[in-house]
Amino acid sequence: MTLAVSNRGPLTFRFGADGGSLEPVPAGGGLASSLRTLLRGTGATWVSVTMGAADRAAAEQGLLSGDHDGIRLVPVPIDDDTYRQAYDVVANTTLWYCHHHLFDLPHRPRFDRMWRPAWEGYRAYNDAVADVVSAEAAEGEVVLVQDYHFSLLGRLLAERRPDLTTVHFLHTPFAEPAMLAVLPDDVAAEILEGMAGFDACGFHCHKWEAGFLACFEAAGLPAPATFVSPLAPDHEELGRDAGTDAAAQAAEVLRASTGDRRLIVRSDRMEPSKNIVRGLLAYEELLIEHPEWRGNVVHVVLAYPSRQGLADYLAYAADVAHTAERINHALGTNEWQPIILRTDDDRGRSLAALAMADVLLVNPVRDGLNLVAKEGPLLSTNAGVLVLSREAGAWEELGPDALGVNPFDVSGTAEALHAALSMGQDERSARAERLRATVQARTAADWLDDQLAAAAQDS
Ligand code: F6P
Repeated sequence: MTLAVSNRGPLTFRFGADGGSLEPVPAGGGLASSLRTLLRGTGATWVSVTMGAADRAAAEQGLLSGDHDGIRLVPVPIDDDTYRQAYDVVANTTLWYCHHHLFDLPHRPRFDRMWRPAWEGYRAYNDAVADVVSAEAAEGEVVLVQDYHFSLLGRLLAERRPDLTTVHFLHTPFAEPAMLAVLPDDVAAEILEGMAGFDACGFHCHKWEAGFLACFEAAGLPAPATFVSPLAPDHEELGRDAGTDAAAQAAEVLRASTGDRRLIVRSDRMEPSKNIVRGLLAYEELLIEHPEWRGNVVHVVLAYPSRQGLADYLAYAADVAHTAERINHALGTNEWQPIILRTDDDRGRSLAALAMADVLLVNPVRDGLNLVAKEGPLLSTNAGVLVLSREAGAWEELGPDALGVNPFDVSGTAEALHAALSMGQDERSARAERLRATVQARTAADWLDDQLAAAAQDS
């Protein structure tokens, strides 16, 4: 039997308008939705953490435990303060920024007397999860731990339950040694020791695995076993979601506002690593350097809310909105709005836009995998050209048939957009077909199987 661990579970709750009733919020983000589909009906246990007061209330009422769709849910209640320290400050501001190389080094991070209690919170969070997993796991069970929220869990579980086989899978990149060295020495060492406690550690691509191993080498510590296994979309579920009436209506609405113009589409969480602002600036440069596209193309930017408790994320969303507005104002005409920006979460609309795209822009600064880069080729009805950052994990698989960009090079991205829009129909179709075949070669189930295989190698 398998026990999975993730921060976000398949079900979280919010308080209703009356302030007291609980409303379920469906799983958000690629990881929780992929795991939910994979574990459904298997009888696996899924340990996840309460993400606030509504989840804790739901846990107290038993709404987050027991059988849900053939998955045994087990919540780990965490108080607000500890959760904020562990999730907001350490996981999403410190570790996320470290692994994605997002630190603005002249100013941040600052590891001071205010940050240290947050590190204690991260330890307490890992400890609480280790307690629950230790209590819930059957003798010799395989434990599949997902993501950077649990860097310390390997060692904690090895100490408490040496009978378990533990596998960690990281959905982000892993920092290069120079970036891990930005963390306080004791913190970096504790993270590596925590990770070394897992029986195996998995990554979406070889580049992140190499960074991980290089960090161990630089620290002179023995590394755990590693493996590479890129996640893939669930083909059937994706097809179902894209075939809904909501998606069809969204396609009509989009077409009504863009007319028959060419479409450069992107669909992301509103997240600094996704590099949305440089994407907008590249589009602006395309329109300036190649004015023949003015009036003939629309950039559809779908960026749905994420981690809104973080000031940096809110500031980034404001930068995206401001940049889009400025470009629309500077270059738009009465007949043509160059950019359509939508910042609400609408899965049907995102899938419709991916299907309609002439060009799909995926230009993250650094990204564990980027599932959208794989969803696009599966959904495309228009031989969409993929413009892909060489710093996305998906580059290893999709690079040969995408147009690659250095995510920092705005002018280079503008030229890649021009090349994509100018590409002849035969080449577009050939590339789109090969991309689709590459994506179809793997399923989400392969990814889960690879984790179980890594566990089997150890036991
Ligand atoms: O990409 C990394 C990741 O942690 C995914 O595993 C997850 O689906 C996504 O970011 C969203 O994160 P959160 O649960 O913090 O909204």
